[in-house]
Formats: sequence, C-alpha cells, structure tokens
Amino acid sequence: MHYPAPMQPAPPSTIAPRRVFIETFGCQMNVLDSELVRDQLLALGYRLVPSAADADVVLFNTCAVRATSEQKVLSRLGVMGKRKKERPELVVGMLGCMAERAGADLQRALKHLDVVVGPSELDRLPALLDEVAAGQGQVRALSGHAVRRSRTLDAAMERLEALDQGRLVDPDQASAQRYVRVTRGCNKMCSFCIVPFTRGPETHRDPDAIVDEVRRLVAAGAVEVTLLGQTINHYRHGEVGFAHLLARVHDEVPELPRLRFLTSFPRDFGDDALEVMATRARICPFLHVPAQSGSDRLLKKMNRGYTVEQYLELVRRARSALPQLAIVGDMIVGYPSETDADHEASLELLRDVRYKTVYVFKYSPRPGTVSNARDPDDVPDEVKRARNQQMLSLQHAISLEHHRALVGTAVEVLVEGAAKLDPGDRQGSGEQALVQIARPARTDGVRLTSRTRGDHIVAFHGDAKLVGTLARVRVLRATPLSLSGELI
Ligand code: SAH
Ligand code: F3S
Repeated sequence: MHYPAPMQPAPPSTIAPRRVFIETFGCQMNVLDSELVRDQLLALGYRLVPSAADADVVLFNTCAVRATSEQKVLSRLGVMGKRKKERPELVVGMLGCMAERAGADLQRALKHLDVVVGPSELDRLPALLDEVAAGQGQVRALSGHAVRRSRTLDAAMERLEALDQGRLVDPDQASAQRYVRVTRGCNKMCSFCIVPFTRGPETHRDPDAIVDEVRRLVAAGAVEVTLLGQTINHYRHGEVGFAHLLARVHDEVPELPRLRFLTSFPRDFGDDALEVMATRARICPFLHVPAQSGSDRLLKKMNRGYTVEQYLELVRRARSALPQLAIVGDMIVGYPSETDADHEASLELLRDVRYKTVYVFKYSPRPGTVSNARDPDDVPDEVKRARNQQMLSLQHAISLEHHRALVGTAVEVLVEGAAKLDPGDRQGSGEQALVQIARPARTDGVRLTSRTRGDHIVAFHGDAKLVGTLARVRVLRATPLSLSGELI
C-alpha cells in the first residue's frame, strides 16, 4: 500500500476560522480520532482552545453505542443552538458514530449543525470546514453502507490511513500515554451493537506503519502505547497475525516501557498471543475481554459465537500463561427477555472470572441493529437498574479483594496527573475534553493519580514533575475503585 507523506504544517487558509474546541465522548477509538482531527487542524493553522466559549469552531466527537451517550451530545447541541443565535458565525460540527448514524430521530437536532462527519470520513474535515466558511450551508460526509462494498473499501482505507499518518508527534505535544490504531471497524455483528454500522467493516493496518508510528511516538516521549481495535485479536495483515504484530511492536521498539492493547474478542484468542505476552515483560499483563452475559441462551441471541464454558476456558488458559493477569470485562444487563435466572448466571460468571473491573451497561436498543428489530425491549427500566446495581456491588467486592492483595506491595506506576481530575474525565465512559492533563503548577508535592501495569488506579503524594514518568509506589490502602500509597 502507498502511504502519503505525513502532513506538513501549511500556511493557514484565508477563509477558515481559527480557534477550535473538540469534545470527545465514548471509547478510546474516539479519543484517538479526536487527536488525529486536532493534528490535522493544527497542521493547517487552527489553534486548539480549552473551552467552547472561546472557539470559532466547536466539534463534538460522538458515540452512538447507547442512547445515554447520545443524550449528552443532544444537550450540548441545545446549548450551542442558543449560542449560535447570538453568534451566527460560530461553526458547530458533529463527528463520529452518532453523526454516521444520523437516524430519523436525530434529524431535528442535526438541522442546526454546520458539519456532520462520520468516523470513516474524518480526513475530509478540513475541506468541509472550508466549504462551511465559504457559505455552503450544512455539509455532510457520511459513509453509509457504501463502505461495506469492497469496491470502495480500499480507497476509503487508504484515505483514512493518511489521517493516522498525519499524526503530529513533536515532543511539545507529547503525552506519556498514546493510542495507536491497529484495526478499523468490526465484522462481528453482535445483535445489540451499532459499531459495525457506524465504523464499517473490519480492516487492518499495515504492520510496518504501526511499528513506525509506535517508534515515532516513543521517540517523542511516549511511555505507554495502547494498540486499538474493536476485536484486536482478529488482526491479520498478509502473513502477520495478532501475536506476530504484538511481538514485532515489542521487539522492534525496545525503548517502549509499556505496551497494551484493547479490545479482545473472546473467540480465537490464540495461545500464541498469550505466549508473546508471557515472554515479553514490557507487554502489560492486562486483557479487556468482554463477555456481555453469563447466560448461554442470551449469548446465542446476542450472536456472540461462544458459550460461557468457552469463555471460561479462555480465562483459565490466559491465567495459567500469565498468573499476574488483570482481566477487565463488559456486561450488559436487561438484554431483551433476560430472566432472573439469566441474570444470576451473569453474576455467577463474575464470581468465576473474578475480573479486576467490569463495565456494566443497561441494554439500550439501537436503531438499525438486529436486536432492535427482532427483540422487544421488555425488561423494565427499574429491573435493569436493580440488576445493574447488584452486579456493580458484587464486582466492587471482588475488586476490593484484588486491591487488598496489593496492600503492602511495591508497584510500578505511570503517573497521569493531579488526583483531582475533571469530574467529566472518568475512566471508560463519559466525556473527555481533548486537552491534555496539564502539569500542575505547584512542585512542592501534590496528590497524584497513576496506573499500575495491570491498570489499577493508585493515588499518592509526590512532586508534580513526576507526571508522565514511571514511579514506584508502596500500596497502603485499598478501596473497590482504587488504591493509595506512598512514593518509594
Ligand atoms: N469491541 C468494542 C465494543 C464496543 S461497544 C470495544 O472496543 O470495546 C463497548 C461496550 O458497550 C460493549 O462491549 C457492550 O458491553 C456495550 N454495548 C454495546 N452496545 C450496547 C447496547 N446496545 N446497549 C448496552 N450496551 C451496549
Ligand atoms: Fe460491537 Fe460486538 Fe463488534 S460488541 S464492536 S459488534 S465485537
């Protein structure tokens, strides 16, 4: 495949507005997409500002996975609609999965936007913003299902590759934790999930491009790189499968202290990948492998393609290869027709697996999915809420046991920032403004937050200069959600 040269900073175009604010909702893939959008705009002379109030262009990079993710964006759009009445020249755009979905139910909210861009069209954003500035009215760039047609897929992927390759990696921009895309889209078609429709079919990046990107990020100061894909263990490019890719990134970038990857699909997780993890110390002993349910009947309805026993077999295999492994899962409660017995089976799965963390989601019907058309959303919301609570309290008890086992030990952590994060900046969900955590001004010691190799959160008191570096901390206290300790 031919790669265009990385984008060079160009003189600002005379018609484009300058100051841009990007707010990101949803998954890590969106965080990465926002970063690439930002880099694209910075290279063209735009300036990033930390609040929508200071911006000429406000972009929301959105998530469509659950109705609640969309509601947050809709309320932002309400605020922006009012602001546009006072400042008609303000440009407001929606990027990402909610834009791609652009369902009938969203048309009223979309009407007032200037630009609507799906996740597979983000490379076109600068040109679209120029069109808006030239007075074109609303512009939309959506893939629809066209990207599913193989005829257009290669071309679409080559264009998108330019977006990843255009990444700015100068040390000034550097953050210690970086994401690198490995796989785009998803072919799984889990019956509840909108991602295959919004992000299109699974395609895999060239391993040389991936290794090269990791190398450039590490040269610019990255301490931890997370490889991203919806079903990352399905990676295949020519002869190179996932285990081989993981080994290559690890072996060919020996200066990288920490390598991780997200998200694994429970089927086809090979012993070869576990072997690569077990024999390469800089790969973190961490696996995010969602089960979604502990009921075989529901797994079948969800089209997940494995049974509870097959899932547990993977967990046993992984733990025997990697005794220190931290396993993280996702579970859906209240999937259509879920009975008390199904729910009990899901709780039993949590007890069997003993996850480090579980993200629990209440089933949310998504337009266009098989579940939505086939299965009535018949579990009442109060039942979903009760099951959600029950599952979380069970998991909290399990997480607390994992955390207590670490009390008294010394752990290596990557220091992320001051412990009091933005209220919106929560792990795994919620919105994240695309402004990197600034180094706190005080240097006489502050409450810092950090993560272990198993992704446990550890708070401790230390010099703010430690942000972005690895430190050793003795763990003193444990709660279900985090640890605290002292710098060694
Ligand atoms: N493989 C992807 C999954 C993306 S969606 C990844 O990278 O994580 C993330 C999680 O959202 C899923 O694992 C699932 O637990 C949850 N989810 C997806 N669709 C949902 C829906 N319609 N209702 C509730 N939860 C959903
Ligand atoms: Fe969604 Fe299933 Fe893919 S959860 S992202 S369709 S693996």
